[in-house]
Amino acid sequence: MSVHLPLVVGNWKMHKTQREALGFIWDLIPFYQPSSIDIWLAVPYTAIHVSAELCNTMRRRGVSLSIGAQNMHDAAEGPFTGEIAAGMLKEAGAQFVIIGHSERRLYFGETNDFINRKVKRALEEGLRPILCIGETREEREEGRAVNVIEEQLFSGIKGVSVHQVSQLVIAYEPMWAIGTGLVASPFQAQEMHSLLREMLTKTWGKDVSCQISLLYGGSAKPENIENLAEQKEIDGFLVGGASLVPESFARIISTLSKRRKG
Ligand code: PGA
Repeated sequence: MSVHLPLVVGNWKMHKTQREALGFIWDLIPFYQPSSIDIWLAVPYTAIHVSAELCNTMRRRGVSLSIGAQNMHDAAEGPFTGEIAAGMLKEAGAQFVIIGHSERRLYFGETNDFINRKVKRALEEGLRPILCIGETREEREEGRAVNVIEEQLFSGIKGVSVHQVSQLVIAYEPMWAIGTGLVASPFQAQEMHSLLREMLTKTWGKDVSCQISLLYGGSAKPENIENLAEQKEIDGFLVGGASLVPESFARIISTLSKRRKG
């Protein structure tokens, strides 16, 4: 279990204009209760600035929401048409960035090496990276799931120094569960999360490894997260589809808030 507060991150993917993003945040407020969990929203690039500004105003009224991005390039700047740099995201108001999401790996050919460079760049620029890892259905069926996540984990965090570790978030998202409605069972998720925690403990020791929040992602919904949230090594959720509607996102937040830190 991580030393941080439980964390729920909404990943909007390619959904919501600026106006829709602001509407969502306003609609979420009535459900908001000052709570013992962190709430982050990974919005499209175009909605980062306006959403972050609105969240700054809300913060003065006791509502705490952090805005972040869903991807970035590893270079500080350069001739990479259509790409975006960590410094640009930071200036727009992003506080974190999702890196190595399976949709980036699958549709845009992102490699472990590229993902590792992005993780290091994000940390250098003061953005908290959420490193996503997870096996495909075939890899699980062939009994290779553990090897795959071990490879993705260690190549993703290669070169991250001990004093940066507390900024790191890792999301275990089995690819067969993303957007499919097929959620991992609490047993399957806990099994992978404890293996991940063991791998991190072997690398950095217990005190350091528990500074990393381990999120579960893949068809997490209000209807199925209760049992998942009870698992010791699940520190929170990365939520896609169910984060698009304020009511369902709020139900996830409230279920997770009930699980106070032990
Ligand atoms: P999903 O997406 O909750 O819609 O399965 C999760 C994710 O891709 O991060």
